[in-house]
This record gives sequence, C-alpha cells and structure tokens, in this order.
Amino acid sequence: LDILHVATECTPFFKTGGLADVIGSLPQALSMPRGAVTVILPKHQSLASDWANKLNWVTTLSVWVRWREQACHVFELEHQGIRYLFFENEYYFNRPFLYGCHDDGERYAFFCHAVLEWIGSREKKPNILHCHDWQTGLLPAYIRAKQWNDQIKTVLTIHNLAYQGQFPASIFKELLHFDDQAFSILEMDGQINYLKAGIAEADKITTVSPTYSLEIQEPAFGYKLDRLLKERANDLTGIVNGIDLDEYNPQTDKELIAPYTNRSSASDINKRSLQAEAGLSLSISTPLLAVVSRLVPEKGIQLLIEALHDMLAHERMQVVVLGNGSPELENGLNDLQHRYPTKLCFFQGFDEGRARRIYAGSDLLLMPSLFEPCGLSQLIALRYGCVPIVRETGGLKDTIQAYQPHTGTGNGFTFFNQTPGELRLTIQRALSHFHHKHQWNKLVAGCARTELGWRKSALEYQHVYDGLREQKGVFDQ
Ligand code: GLC
Repeated sequence: LDILHVATECTPFFKTGGLADVIGSLPQALSMPRGAVTVILPKHQSLASDWANKLNWVTTLSVWVRWREQACHVFELEHQGIRYLFFENEYYFNRPFLYGCHDDGERYAFFCHAVLEWIGSREKKPNILHCHDWQTGLLPAYIRAKQWNDQIKTVLTIHNLAYQGQFPASIFKELLHFDDQAFSILEMDGQINYLKAGIAEADKITTVSPTYSLEIQEPAFGYKLDRLLKERANDLTGIVNGIDLDEYNPQTDKELIAPYTNRSSASDINKRSLQAEAGLSLSISTPLLAVVSRLVPEKGIQLLIEALHDMLAHERMQVVVLGNGSPELENGLNDLQHRYPTKLCFFQGFDEGRARRIYAGSDLLLMPSLFEPCGLSQLIALRYGCVPIVRETGGLKDTIQAYQPHTGTGNGFTFFNQTPGELRLTIQRALSHFHHKHQWNKLVAGCARTELGWRKSALEYQHVYDGLREQKGVFDQ
C-alpha cells in the first residue's frame, strides 16, 4: 500500500496550527514499511535553512495554471522514515504567510495541479491520496475527472470546516481547467468552494473527532455544507487526533526548568519559575490557570474575557495567556492585564518553549471553544498533568471526561452552555477541588495517564485505507 499525504503545513518544517502537528506525526504512526508513506508540502519561505540545506532536487515539473506553463521544482528529504517532497515555486510560495494572500485560490490550485503532474509522471501511482483541508480539496475532484479513480482512492480529512477556500466563480474558467459539467460539483452559493469539491468527490471523508463528525452534519456547525455531509454520512468517519508522545514528554522536555515523570515532585519548581517569567507573585497555593491558543472567536476567548472580568476581582487566582490573533480579543486581554496586573499576564505572540513551560507550570488549562474539531492543547496539557477546563464540543467532548469526585474518575472539568456564567461556575468548581491537595494530586496523576498517542487512531486510519482496498479492482497493479 502506497500512501501519499498532501498538506500545506507540517512540523518541524512550518506551522500555523494543529494541522501541522497532525501532518508531522500521523504518517510516522501508520505502521507501514519504510518508503510507503510520502508527504507532499509546498516549500514555504519559512522553511528554516537547516532543513532547506538538506533538500535534494528530484525533478522539475511543468505545471499548467491560468493556461500558462509554470515550473515546479520538486525537492526531497527523508526524516524519521517518511519521505517529504517539497514543491517549490518562488512566485506562489516564497511568501511570509502561508495563507491569507489575495490569490490563495490560484496558489493552491497551482499546488494541486503540481501534485497531479507529479502523480502523472510516476510509473507507480499511489494507492491512496490522502488530502487535508480546503487547500487540497480540488484533488479528489481532479482524480475523478481524470478517471484515475480505479487506481487511486482518495481520502479527505477535514481539520476545520469553517475554512473552505471560497473564490469567485470566474476562477472556474480562468484557472481550474475542468470540463464545464464539473461546475456544479465545485460551486456553492455562486462561488467556487474547494472544500466542497473534496467532500463531494473523495472516496472517504474523515474529520478529527467522532463528535465533530456528527456536529458538522447539523446546520449549526455545518457552515452550509451540513446537507452534503449528511448525504455522505456513510463515508464519513471521525477519528480523534493523537499527539507525538516523544515530542511532548515532560520527562525529556528541554524547555522545562525541572523535567519530571511524576508531576507532583517537580511542579513547585516549574510553577514558581513560570510565575517569575510572567511577573506574578510566587505562590504555590494560588491556582494558576492558563490559555494557550490562537486568539480567534471560535476559541471562546470573548466568553473567557467576560468570565474573568468578574472573577479576577474576587477570586484568589492567577492567569497566564499565550497567543495572538484578532486585535479585538488581544485588546480585551490587554485591558484585563491593565486592570489586574498582579493576577493576569498576557504574553502576546507564540513561543513554543514558553507554551511548554506553561503546560508544566500551570494547574489548569482553559479551553472554552465554541466549536473544536479536535483540539491539541488539551491533549498536551493532559500529558503535562495540567487539568483542562473545556466546553463540551467536538474533540473536547471526546477527549475530556468530567471529573467525578466521589469515584475519582474523569480528567477535567466541562460545561456546555456558551455563557460567561456557566464558564465561571465551572472554573469555581475546579478551584474548589484544587484546594483539596490529596484528591487534586490523584486527578493530576489520572490526567497524565490518559491515552494520548496515535496508536489507536492510526489503526482507525488504517481501517479506512483497508476499506478502500476492498473496493473492487483497486491496488491490483
Ligand atoms: C484545526 C482544528 C483543531 C484540530 C487541528 C488538527 O486546527 O481547529 O481542532 O485539532 O486542526 O486536526
């Protein structure tokens, strides 16, 4: 079985969000013979020179886009048993940002055309083309249009349905090169929608948690694609993300002041040093709550700001926030910091080392997302023994079970209603447990025991691939 993943970001090369972590760890977790899994990525400007210097040129493809011929240089690199191919085109990808350019529709159409050229140039076609998110959504439609479907089966993973890649209908003729009848497959609400194309045409669709796979079939979470997703329900599976347990390991993490196996032995040192880093008073008995997140509306940051406004005035607590994003939410957090400088510290920006020190040094992680396809921060928090407080949605619902003090089961605190009051009550409930040290330490130890790796989920992906293998005629080559 040959599997070709196509995505736009991947750790350790370049990352804007959780997608990169998944692409950087799922391929390794699939138990495939060496060389059976390849990952294709654009060669973005942010690829560090340490990596760029290791690339070997493989070939140069000539790619048609906008009815013009353009070059795509293909470079390869082997890392942890996986073959990575970087597709280089200076004009499209040598830019400071991965997304958000005026011509994203053209950039990622180019990328998809280049992937097709690559596949077309190979004697041996991949058995599975596994596409991720809207940037690669055109590929399943092209595979079908080219009638390669009897040799190549396609899987599309939706990491976040809110981002669909919608562009003016005029691009259909200008740059996509489909036959006219394909228009209705790609069109939604008068626009071309790359993700819709993938959902309509992929052989199998997966998303990153079982609960999210159900939520997106309803209008409230479906972003107008709910009906199509419901039609495809038999081919849609939710598989929860794992994390790389070697990468996120408090025992070996070089960013920590005091690495640990058992959190209770080291947490005082890590907590104090985090408090010092954040300019907060050094106090082990004060509960320290953390937020590590992109600051966008879907993460429930506004809800949090409202809940904290009240709480910081009255409760004995400290809060550390790490992240950046919408100016409005950043202003809200800056405002809280001005009002409560001894209680809240807002680190604006993202710093991987600091994120890890936050997981290791804080008592609780706040994740009140309005929706959350899977979420990785709560998984990393568990690994570091930092107890999550989450809203019951998507992957948060699938990975965090409410703590039951009488039985000692559960690995976090949860709430459902999207109101600041409900969030405040849940934080207060967590804080009241925090002060019962014996019970609390047990809860923390339980969190760290949650199964978080890829083992089970990788098997589920394999099951999806095997299901495709059983479809007639495939993989006989
Ligand atoms: C997106 C989702 C997040 C998920 C990640 C990886 O960033 O918003 O919930 O964990 O993709 O699948």
